[in-house]
Amino acid sequence: SEDTDKINIGFSQCISDDIWREEMNHSMQVEADLHPEVDLEIVISNRNVKKQIAQINKFVYDKVDIIIISPLESIEIVPAIENAYDSGIPVILIDRKINSDKYTAFLGADNLSIGRLTANYIASKTVKPIRVIELMPDDFSSPTLDRSLGFNQVAERSKNIKEVITLKPYTDGAYAQLLDSVSFEEVNSVFAFNDLIAKWAWSVADRKGIANNLKIVGVDGLLGPDQGIEMVLENKLKATILYPTGGAEAIKLALRIANGEQVPKNNELDIVLIDQLNADIMKHQLLKIKNQQADIENQIDAIEEQERLYSNQNNLLKITFCF
Ligand code: FRU
Repeated sequence: SEDTDKINIGFSQCISDDIWREEMNHSMQVEADLHPEVDLEIVISNRNVKKQIAQINKFVYDKVDIIIISPLESIEIVPAIENAYDSGIPVILIDRKINSDKYTAFLGADNLSIGRLTANYIASKTVKPIRVIELMPDDFSSPTLDRSLGFNQVAERSKNIKEVITLKPYTDGAYAQLLDSVSFEEVNSVFAFNDLIAKWAWSVADRKGIANNLKIVGVDGLLGPDQGIEMVLENKLKATILYPTGGAEAIKLALRIANGEQVPKNNELDIVLIDQLNADIMKHQLLKIKNQQADIENQIDAIEEQERLYSNQNNLLKITFCF
């Protein structure tokens, strides 16, 4: 059922309801549009592992040329991914890892480093030993596990961090509830596992009147209202760690694989700590990139329009000559 002249890439995205994921999908699509030989199909599994497994199986059935997956979790998904890989289709994992090494390449930032960087940053901002909260989703995705591991490794060795309080609510709504139950005396900092969670932490702190004393660090560092960079500029967050989505890079990697190139198994994307010192610069640089991206998209649209006009004229000519 796939177009055989094209490089068919199937992408299974695990989550749909946040803008970090939208950015990933969008940058992937823009990069794919730059390559006329690429046909990209994006399917979303809405936090449903069974659905994601079915999507991967469908890509195998359709014999796509390359599968890209951002896996929801790291265990249940394994047989489907191993099956795809064993069937000879190259598999690229993006953002999240799995408990198997049967895949072609991984692309993403190092979440262990994110945890360590955050702990070092928080420890460097205090002179007396403090208590810190790690506020994390209750899931078994590799970013969650690695961020926590890295953070605790450094915290254990730091004389400035005397305790890590782990808060892991079952549902999104429970973050505020859990935070409400904490006595913030001596709690100096919060490591929120993404900027959305950081925003909830700030709201609770604000309501309690302690927002000015609490140092909140988030992850993702997106542009836009209420996103990480803006919250740093508004002084709601002490910092955020830019966690690149890798959307464009995934397509570039897929093309290298499709061209028969041997690619590294691990393809690491850089992280950047954004705080008061560089938030403004980052904002303007990222805005520039975003505008350039929009220009490219407009140009692609214009070219497609030209092609449509040209083929219409050609058809017209053919008709004229027939008579
Ligand atoms: C978005 C997200 C990000 C986080 C990433 C980890 O769905 O939760 O906030 O950094 O996924 O996989």
